[in-house]
Amino acid sequence: MTIEKNIALFPLTTFGIGGPARYFALVQNIQEMREALAFANARAMKIFVLGGGSNVLIDDKGFDGLVLKIELKGVETVKEDGHMLIVAAAGESWDELVGRAVKENLWGIENLSGIPGSVGGAVVQNIGAYGSALSQTLEWVEVLDRESDSVKTLTKEACKFGYRDSIFKREPGRYVLLHAAFSLDSAPRPDLSYKDLALYFEGRVPSLGEIREAVIQIRKKKFPDLNFEGTAGSFFKNPVLSGEEAKKLALKYPGMPLFALPESPNIKIPLGWILDYRHGVLDLRDVRVGGARMFEKQFLVIATEKNTTAADVKELAKIVQEKILVACGISVEPEVHIVAR
Ligand code: EPU
Repeated sequence: MTIEKNIALFPLTTFGIGGPARYFALVQNIQEMREALAFANARAMKIFVLGGGSNVLIDDKGFDGLVLKIELKGVETVKEDGHMLIVAAAGESWDELVGRAVKENLWGIENLSGIPGSVGGAVVQNIGAYGSALSQTLEWVEVLDRESDSVKTLTKEACKFGYRDSIFKREPGRYVLLHAAFSLDSAPRPDLSYKDLALYFEGRVPSLGEIREAVIQIRKKKFPDLNFEGTAGSFFKNPVLSGEEAKKLALKYPGMPLFALPESPNIKIPLGWILDYRHGVLDLRDVRVGGARMFEKQFLVIATEKNTTAADVKELAKIVQEKILVACGISVEPEVHIVAR
């Protein structure tokens, strides 16, 4: 395994932003991962684990440590106790995995179609979309525990998943993901609970392939085209409020939909709705910093033109956060991982 110096990171991210990594290693197996980690440990250097680069904002000055670009590959479908497990290495493309599951007629992750990034990144942030979350089908993960330098299997419960949350976010740096296993179903179980999907099929029960295609089509209308612009999807997390607080806000903003959270009495507020000028709360259409703006087809998303800097994006985010605080009294957090130099 070679450790390279001064490697540009911007081409490895969907924002297309960021300076170089001081050191950089492509990691294709656990042996290489151990070697790379030993290199960093020996120099008391910080590390950053990079997957598909689709949910990160790298600093304009780059990263002053070692970037591990995860290239662990391999997917296997196994039958276990009457159900199907699909086991994927952390460096696999998430969307290719979904495509494969759909081809193999396995239900459970099709609503998560079209999400850019790697399997490892998908687990870390417990991706969710169109009524479904990764944690609903995840069975176990295999990790390298840096504390004990051992390979461990963690159950779904040990991963402590929440809305865009997991142990991997709460204890950053401790675990590096190696594999993830998803329990999928051969019997149809379409989930059309999300309004956009139900509307798409107008009451008809679609096939597995049709659901994947529908989700991809819906997403195309809402997200910037990466061929022309940069983005990391939703820039902020939707705020989660107590039932009481949510009710107050719903009275203030009639028509605002509210979203229940699984296994929680709390309510998720659609920040995109609040940021959308058509609802009369905030109007961000003229708010721009450099080439960064809130995306006019989905106001929770930041889109960036060529030559936008990380400083521009951070400044825009700060302005928007302040406006939300003044208008609604809510502090919102970035959903995108902002990587410090
Ligand atoms: N809305 C608007 N205007 C907007 C945006 C949203 O009125 O500009 C309204 C929608 O009409 C809907 C509600 O707000 O009633 C929620 O919007 P949407 O369904 O687009 O979902 P979201 O809450 O904005 C979340 C995820 C997305 C995921 C979608 C679809 C987060 C932070 N984001 O967005 O995930 O694709 O749901 O399920 O939870 C991501 O994490 O990067 C991401 C893109």
